[in-house]
Amino acid sequence: MYFIGVDLGTSAVKLLLMEESGKIAASVSREYPLYFPHPGWSEQKPEDWWEAVMDGLKELVSGVDASQVAGISFGGQMHGLVILDEDDKVIRPAILWNDGRTQKEVDYLNNEIGKDRLSAYTANIAFAGFTAPKLLWVKKNEPENFARIKKIMLPKDYIAYKLSGCHCCDYSDASGMLLLDVKNRCWSKEMLEICDVTEEQMPKLFESYEAVGTLKPELAGELGIPASCKIVAGAGDNAAAAVGTGTVGDGRCNISLGTSGTIFISSRDFSVDEHNALHAFAHADGHYHLMGCMLSAASCNKWWMDEIIGTKEYAAEQAKIGKLGDNHVYFLPYLMGERSPHNNPDARGTFIGMTMDTTRSDMTQAVLEGVAFAIRDSLEVAKKLGIRIERTKICGGGAKSPLWKKIIANVLNLKVDVIESEEGPGLGGAMLAAVACGVYASVEEAAEKIVRVVDTIEPDTELVEKYEARYQKFARIYPTMKELFSEIQ
Ligand code: XUL
Repeated sequence: MYFIGVDLGTSAVKLLLMEESGKIAASVSREYPLYFPHPGWSEQKPEDWWEAVMDGLKELVSGVDASQVAGISFGGQMHGLVILDEDDKVIRPAILWNDGRTQKEVDYLNNEIGKDRLSAYTANIAFAGFTAPKLLWVKKNEPENFARIKKIMLPKDYIAYKLSGCHCCDYSDASGMLLLDVKNRCWSKEMLEICDVTEEQMPKLFESYEAVGTLKPELAGELGIPASCKIVAGAGDNAAAAVGTGTVGDGRCNISLGTSGTIFISSRDFSVDEHNALHAFAHADGHYHLMGCMLSAASCNKWWMDEIIGTKEYAAEQAKIGKLGDNHVYFLPYLMGERSPHNNPDARGTFIGMTMDTTRSDMTQAVLEGVAFAIRDSLEVAKKLGIRIERTKICGGGAKSPLWKKIIANVLNLKVDVIESEEGPGLGGAMLAAVACGVYASVEEAAEKIVRVVDTIEPDTELVEKYEARYQKFARIYPTMKELFSEIQ
């Protein structure tokens, strides 16, 4: 049997074909456009995702016996608002996780409804990228679109719906809507009322490893995949990545260096950070997790390389960096504003500390270090909650860089376990499909049997000390700049 994991990302969809043993038999990817119609806005067309997924699926199964595909599941970019009308047509482009247009709605929710009430209803407070403030934005700014909403869903759920016909969502992804009572795993009646939507407009909730239906017969014909193939709910990309890196059960950690950067801590029990700086979400293994999310991680390096210094030779640029821990340049990686822990869509990217002898590689190094420092900001919040972590897994495009992994290990003072495949969400999706098809009894069993650590990067005491001193300085730059960020908008 084969299982397909669909990682519906922000720059591309990556599809992965997994054998029962966990071996990756094939993978393909398809890019699609990202639209920034105003500064700070970020949108994509669900129709583009669907076209890319269908095209990718055809190539993925072209070299194998497609009749053996037993399950398809997902890891999807979180929080994006997808709205469908009564004919199940997409009403407007999806408003994505890194869109910062909802400051007014976030202020209304956090200040007028109040953080305490939000946290009691959902275990979280409002952040600009979350789905509930986007609904309020559409209600105020596009009332004609709001009036047409028949179904509300998240990006990967649109694909699950197109494949199966079921309007579904899993608990991990639903947690990021600010509409789910995370602890009790049900829609929050209070939040639905605040956002002026009804439970009928919401998708049906599933555990990530549950089948929502089977492949539509007409698609089965087109793809050569049997109509008995299970379509499995899947998870938000961070929870799926955690499954794909074996970050399940209690007290495990995963760092994802994708377009966004996240630090994800799995937990058997439900808990909330009292300041809600970390997200308290359901996990794809049936339990819970805490997560810090920075909006620009590997995308900062991509911006610096592609747009500013104009090269595609990432490894060659990084090879010139030879003095870790001794850089005088600092970079605040807030190119799309920042979520955790600052919750400030007005924050901006900032270089500071350059002198006449500063080189291009000092600045490249500052970009990589700035992302690591920003992830450390969230780790510090977790430490204050009494969470003790000694090691982490790592995944995402940025995890391909040995230098970046070394910087992460030393800035966070964590052992970094490198696993065989850094395709976290895609692999996690395929594993969830295998669990739904009964190949593994639980997500934890699938992780135990499939995920293999192939290397560990140990932090170096001297470098940890140097980075500790630099982190303390980094941590003072944002508070100094904060007021100015709102003024230079
Ligand atoms: C998590 C988040 C991002 C997206 C990226 O809260 O917003 O990690 O899921 O796809």
